[in-house]
Amino acid sequence: MKGLKGKVACVTGAAQGIGQEICVRLASEGAKIAVMDIQNTDTTVKRCLQKGSEAQGYFLDVRDKNQIHQVVQDVYECWDRIDIWVNNAGIFDNTATVDVSEELWDRVSDINYKAMFLCSQAVIPIMEKNQWGRFINLSSMAGKMAYSEEIAYCSTKAAVLGLTRALAVELGGRGITANAICPGPIETEMLRNTYQHLADINGVTLAEWCDSILKTIPVARFGKPEDVAALVAFLASEEAGFINGQSINIDGGLVFF
Ligand SMILES: NC(=O)c1ccc[n+]([C@@H]2O[C@H](COP(=O)([O-])OP(=O)(O)OC[C@H]3O[C@@H](n4cnc5c(N)ncnc54)[C@H](O)[C@@H]3O)[C@@H](O)[C@H]2O)c1
Repeated sequence: MKGLKGKVACVTGAAQGIGQEICVRLASEGAKIAVMDIQNTDTTVKRCLQKGSEAQGYFLDVRDKNQIHQVVQDVYECWDRIDIWVNNAGIFDNTATVDVSEELWDRVSDINYKAMFLCSQAVIPIMEKNQWGRFINLSSMAGKMAYSEEIAYCSTKAAVLGLTRALAVELGGRGITANAICPGPIETEMLRNTYQHLADINGVTLAEWCDSILKTIPVARFGKPEDVAALVAFLASEEAGFINGQSINIDGGLVFF
């Protein structure tokens, strides 16, 4: 894999978990990193700087169109280009369909996929200047499979796949690709909270719940944020230029389509 030296990468939801690891990996490939989140981004920025890269933290609530445009402008003014945009910010929700309020539905939708549209719209004109760009969108195995009491999450993660394909066909001729990643269970705070909730409602301990899931994963381990970050680094590279509009599973062998 060639490095990403000279490239500028923006990652949303990058204060922790998968987003943080994506930043660190792209930094180690030489990219300058814009670390975006509603939480404090200092730890991620520090880890990127330790890789010898340049990095800046930005407060960004991906639900806010004006903030998105401002942050995109700020990054462009700082580094004069944006090459890679990773739409990673996301929230999970475990609620039975009859209990999902309209407000909750809108919140999950706004963060998990409407934001991808708003961010893409803001950054496309900048990528077009160099006729080169990479959109990498975090979907989930829940975007291909279906799980009980996850209607908002499953729906939004499936929508990410449609959005990614639409970007891919529209932008491919301008040197800009778009791909989605569909992780299985990856060890982060989101997964821990989800499994704790599921363990509680099923009357088992967290360890028992994790064991039961582990038995279903062919590679017999949970994924790590580093696993996802490595795939993002490849999709962001020059060599991945002929991969476009795909939804790539990274789940230890749980899903085959
Ligand atoms: N962990 C998993 O098992 C798993 C599996 C499949 C897909 N994913 C997807 O990967 C992505 C990252 O998940 P994670 O496990 O690292 O989650 P996480 O909860 O650990 O991190 C999510 C980050 O998004 C940020 N965020 C939330 N709302 C935001 C907003 N409005 N604006 C900006 N940032 C916001 C949070 O502050 C947090 O830093 C998500 O899109 C998630 O759906 C995760």
